[in-house]
Amino acid sequence: MKRLVILISGRGSNMQALVEAGLPVVAVLSNRADAAGLAWARARGIGTEVLDHRAYPDRDAFDRALEAAIDRHRPDVVALAGFMRILSAAFVEHYRGRLLNIHPSLLPAFTGLHTHERAIAAGVKCHGATVHLVTAELDHGPIVAQAIVPVRLDDDAERLAARVLRGEHQIYPRAVRWLLEGNLEINEGRVRTRDAQPQHLWADRPAEDL
Ligand code: GAR
Repeated sequence: MKRLVILISGRGSNMQALVEAGLPVVAVLSNRADAAGLAWARARGIGTEVLDHRAYPDRDAFDRALEAAIDRHRPDVVALAGFMRILSAAFVEHYRGRLLNIHPSLLPAFTGLHTHERAIAAGVKCHGATVHLVTAELDHGPIVAQAIVPVRLDDDAERLAARVLRGEHQIYPRAVRWLLEGNLEINEGRVRTRDAQPQHLWADRPAEDL
């Protein structure tokens, strides 16, 4: 049986999508005790643990403690699901090829924060979410799957975020399953599935857009 550890900092809706997809979640860890997702996980009998980053002298010390806490669960894959911490190079290297993140934009566009506001301000017509393998550079790393949504003229950041989030919940479980099952191959930074599954998803596209 494969083992998946999820890291969250807040609401945990992507974590829920991973659990509800039947993935083998063995633990949910958070850097914030008030992360709403923790209660949801506990209520389903999933082990949770909190490591408050403020209790550590620096990033490296926190990351070493986090790594130890994760490794006690012997994960095959670690999924960042709204885990709002920059990770040190040593941490990322330790999980090379086993660490996935979901980011609310079509990378490489809109790395960082406030992606929906920035997409609207830029006037882009398509936006979305990306699942990628984590490398030391923030919001970079080989792209595993993307969900594409339209940006409508009357969108505000909240509406757009909700549309993107529905796409996130569809692609993240698929991508995590591919990695758990050994279905991903990386060649010169490009990821493909061994069984030629589509790695893009047109999320929330009404018929008139086809
Ligand atoms: C999601 O939209 C996720 O893509 C984003 O935070 C949200 C977490 O929501 N992640 C990042 O911005 C990481 N840079 P959730 O807690 O409901 O899954």
